[in-house]
This record gives sequence, C-alpha cells and structure tokens, in this order.
Amino acid sequence: MKTYLVTGGAGFIGSNFVIYMLNKYDDVKIINIDSLTYAGNLENLKSVENNPNYKFIQADICDKNAINEIFENNDIDYVVNFAAESHVDRSIENPEIFVKTNVLGTLNLLCAAKKAWSVGDDVYRNGVKYLQISTDEVYGSLGPDGYFLETTPLDPHSPYSSSKASADLVVKAYFDTYKFPMNITRCSNNYGPFQFPEKLIPLMINNALSHKSLPVYGDGMQIRDWLFVEDHCKAIDMVIRDGKIGEVYNIGGHNERPNVKIVETIIDYIKNNVDDSVDKHLIKHVEDRKGHDRRYGIAPDKIKEDLGWYPETTFEVGIQKTIKWYLDNMDWMKNVTSGEYQKYYEKMYSKK
Ligand code: NAD
Ligand code: TYD
Repeated sequence: MKTYLVTGGAGFIGSNFVIYMLNKYDDVKIINIDSLTYAGNLENLKSVENNPNYKFIQADICDKNAINEIFENNDIDYVVNFAAESHVDRSIENPEIFVKTNVLGTLNLLCAAKKAWSVGDDVYRNGVKYLQISTDEVYGSLGPDGYFLETTPLDPHSPYSSSKASADLVVKAYFDTYKFPMNITRCSNNYGPFQFPEKLIPLMINNALSHKSLPVYGDGMQIRDWLFVEDHCKAIDMVIRDGKIGEVYNIGGHNERPNVKIVETIIDYIKNNVDDSVDKHLIKHVEDRKGHDRRYGIAPDKIKEDLGWYPETTFEVGIQKTIKWYLDNMDWMKNVTSGEYQKYYEKMYSKK
C-alpha cells in the first residue's frame, strides 16, 4: 500500500487526481492537504470523503510545523504538489502570494520530505518520490511555429509563470545538490469538471448560461493547447510510477485552439442543446491581459515514448462532457460564484 501526500487536492486538477486514483486503485492511500483558499472546495471530493483510503487535513504548505508533523505521523511514499496560486490575472494584481505559496511553499515541502526520507547523506528510503506539478507556461510564448520541449529554456512572463518556473528550479536544485528523488511535469491548459470559473472555459459556460457578455481578451487569437483533465491525471500516475528520477516530462495532446474558437464552440453547444437565444452577439472583445502570451504548444514525445502515455479524450468529446458536467452541477457553480467571486469578477471585468 503506497501513501500519497497530495497537496492542493481540493482544487481543480488535485480533486480530479484524488478521485481518479481512488477509483482506479484499491491499494493506495491518499492524504490530501489543502489550506482551502478561494479555489479549494471540499464539495469536489464528496464522492470519496468516506473512502477508508482517503484522509483530508486542512494545512498550508508554507506552515513548517504542520507539514513536518504530517510527515512524522504518516509513512509517506510520494508527494504530489498541486497546491498553488494558479490564476494569471490574479498574479498580475497581487504577485506576492504567488511567490509565497508557489516558491516558498514548494521549498517547505522539499525540506520536510528530504528530512523524512533521508536514511544517510544524500541517500533516501527506497521507492520514495516528489512530483512537482508544473505548467507549460514556464517556457514563455511561442511564435506561429515550433513546440515546447523539455529542453526549451525557461522564459516565463507573468508573475504566476515566473513563480512556477522558480519552484521548478528549486526542485531541480534538490536533485542536483542532494540527489533528491523527484520529477517535474509540465502540462498544457487543462479543462474538465470542477474547474473554478475564473478560468476561460468554465467562465464562458457560466456567463453564456446566464446571458452575460463573454469577455475575450484582445483579438482572441491567442492559442492554448487544451487537455482533458483526466488525461493529465493518467500522465501523473504514470510519471509517479515509472518516471526516471530527475527527469522533466511535458504533457499535452497537440490540441491547439485560438481562444475565440473555444468560446464559439461553447456558444454553439449551448445554442443547440440548451438555449437557442445564446449566440455570438454575447462575445465582447475587451482590453488585453498585460504581458499576454501569444501561443503555447507542447511536444509530448518524451512521455509518449518513454512511458507510453497518450491522451484518450478528444477535444470534441471532452468539451461536451465538460459542458454537460456544468449543466448537471449548476448548484456547484452557484456556490462557487457567490461571495468572493462576485467581488473578483466585478473588479476584473468592470474596468475592461
Ligand atoms: P486551483 O487553483 O484550482 O487549485 C489550487 C489548490 O491549491 C486549491 O485547492 C487551493 O486551496 C490550494 N492551495 C493554494 N494555496 C495553498 C497553500 N498555501 N497550502 C495548501 N493548499 C493551497 O489550481 P489547478 O488548476 O487545479 O492547478 C493545480 C496545479 O496544476 C497548480 O500547481 C498549477 O500550476 C498546475 N497546472 C494547472 C494547469 C491548468 O490548466 N489548470 C495546467 C498546468 C499546470
Ligand atoms: P486562462 O483560463 O486564465 O488560462 P492561462 O492564462 O493560464 O492560459 O486563460 C486561457 C486563455 O483565455 C488566455 O489566453 C486568456 C484568455 N481569457 C480570455 O480571453 N477571457 C477571459 O475572461 C479569461 C479568463 C481568459
């Protein structure tokens, strides 16, 4: 029985990962630690909360005592660090918390894991591993051609991506300096159930369903490489099990689309299946994001060749599943868009 310490497991990808693992395996134990910021929601984990192999602890990854105590009280084999401030627009408004959580929080986890796993000078208990969940955004922005490889130099532009790149470098330094057993994964944009509606896809679904305008930044021709969240979870599982210590793995499904096309796909689905008064007149081109990266595109060849990973869900299927999930979970959307979200939304979009 392997014990996974999952951080940020009440957020979008973390909660999908916890559910994916507990549905797939009977012989894994998951300890989910999350400080429950605006983005963390225990409702996401309702389906597993009574699973005997699952435990939730409310804790901040920056809290040294709390994290050391969790390592002391549990025999942890793997750390999967999802916990982060994750939204670019918020990082432009308030960079400090991004450096604190994403960089110092990561360092704190590394320190605690190193201490708990050490059995000699730079020697660790057999079979343990730390996985840093990173992002393709650390590579910066592409022109019309080419892809991000694992060897592409880091060139982040936003406070969010620079904090993620900084964390990656600290994790790398732990391997280079202490032979600390780690992997880093860098995934492209995810979409699917439980994504907080500050991000493009759930924001557009929510706004279209309530006939609010659909705020497309600038010309809307910025390109993202979209992956269904379950395919990301599958890749993470494979990297933990079979990833070669010290390696970075890019994850993406060669599914590049301009933002405005994503918005049109959502409009078409809702118009044809839910409400025929929803159409393109809702699109509103608004002021562009500062420092907006033009294009992301992942080359996933290494994870495909070395670990046999491939994405199972096409965008056409994944986006329908996602929209249907939000339609079936309108209460979830209502809950997460009350309170803090209202203030955030008004502040962000009233000035655009
Ligand atoms: P999210 O914002 O939905 O969830 C983040 C979770 O971390 C929340 O539950 C929050 O409460 C928790 N958290 C924040 N600060 C914390 C702290 N100090 N201590 C403990 N918990 C804390 O984010 P997400 O979209 O699920 O992303 C998860 C990870 O994946 C992040 O590291 C992100 O950089 C990375 N990533 C995301 C995407 C994407 O498209 N969403 C793509 C590639 C990589
Ligand atoms: P987002 O979901 O914030 O992810 P990221 O910035 O991490 O890629 O945004 C995806 C793209 O959609 C990005 O190019 C910004 C754009 N976008 C809009 O045009 N309008 C919006 O309201 C939002 C939230 C994003």
